[in-house]
Amino acid sequence: MRYGLIAALSASVAFTTISFARAADLEVTHWWTSGGEAAAVKTLAEQFNKAGGDKWVDGAIGGSGSGARPIIVSRILGGNPMGATQLNHGRQAEELVQAGLMTDLTELAEKEGWKDFIRPASLLESCTFEGKLYCVPLNIHSWDWMWTNPDVFKQAGVEAPKNWQEFVAAAPKLKEKGIIPLATGDGWQVSGMFNVLTASLGGKDLYLKVNKDKDSAALNGPEFKKVIQALADARSMADPGYVGRSWNEATNMVMTGKAGGQIMGDWAQGEFTTAGKVAGKDYDCLPGLGDHPVVESGGDAIYFPKNKDPEVTKAQLKLASMLVSKQTQVAFNLAKGSIPIRGDIDMATASSCMKKGIELLKNPDNIIPSGDQLRAPDTQGQIESLMGEFFSGPEMTVDDMQKRFAEIMESAH
Ligand code: GAL
Repeated sequence: MRYGLIAALSASVAFTTISFARAADLEVTHWWTSGGEAAAVKTLAEQFNKAGGDKWVDGAIGGSGSGARPIIVSRILGGNPMGATQLNHGRQAEELVQAGLMTDLTELAEKEGWKDFIRPASLLESCTFEGKLYCVPLNIHSWDWMWTNPDVFKQAGVEAPKNWQEFVAAAPKLKEKGIIPLATGDGWQVSGMFNVLTASLGGKDLYLKVNKDKDSAALNGPEFKKVIQALADARSMADPGYVGRSWNEATNMVMTGKAGGQIMGDWAQGEFTTAGKVAGKDYDCLPGLGDHPVVESGGDAIYFPKNKDPEVTKAQLKLASMLVSKQTQVAFNLAKGSIPIRGDIDMATASSCMKKGIELLKNPDNIIPSGDQLRAPDTQGQIESLMGEFFSGPEMTVDDMQKRFAEIMESAH
């Protein structure tokens, strides 16, 4: 007994000594694997490693967020947590936070005054549960953009479009030249595009009525029907090769003149930047499809699953603090094409497209919550499969789609 106690004591002394000398390997999972994304994540790893001690262990998961998120969540639920992980702002980690599986960052955030410089306030609200903070907003990524290649419109003898209607009108001319009007991929890309069409063509009020209030009259009404009709137009402008195509392959089609444009989040900008392309010359951007310029307050947040090792917890807090720092915000967002979560930094070298986004963000009337902030992951999944079905062929009519979409939203929690 006595011997056992001593042995236990000396073991704990030894552990304490070792734990002081030791730093942590912090595995960070994310789905940032395209050229622009990889360049952005490198800025984080380099800065974290430069601080000394702890080490960034890169846990990139190939494919898209839709594939990566279930892997991330099941590792945390299964007791094999990573040191930190990307998820989107909003409800994706809701259940993990409620189950007490995430490190509480409240003390750090209060000490560093995050509330005073992180904007818009909805970003921190998305990280908050019962008054405590459980994630770090890293960027604002807005879905509401169309990326075009002005050159292909010139080749087809039409003016480069300034809005969605002009884009649709130019499509036949592009087709005549063997150019695919709209580059896209399947699954979440179609569902994201639909959200953009809702906000950009229908406007902010309709977007909120449909996605936030789940308003039956709006969901079944004529204005929303026009948005679904626009998705049918998009369907007729895409090529059959869209199935299985990654978003960055689609961006590449625009960049290389195989396609006229792509509706995609502003992470597409990271691809243009990495390829050395210049906004306003080699490519153009239409926020809100040129109709209703809005920016979503969606984006990426980093969560820190609870870990039994105190060294890992220390490293988590160190990374959390670094992510909101001025230096990280500039370097990461310039590479990624996203908007920083703080306004007190110098973004003079940003592209003209990114500057448009930063300007839009200054007026709260232009900001809309993202789909991930408004809908739970299971609702998002149902919508994604409905969109996939609709996009795959003209068999599903606009009316069928409207009815089924309304049913999903009316029963969403
Ligand atoms: C989003 C994420 C972006 C970008 C994009 C495509 O979910 O917020 O940062 O990575 O996926 O991979």
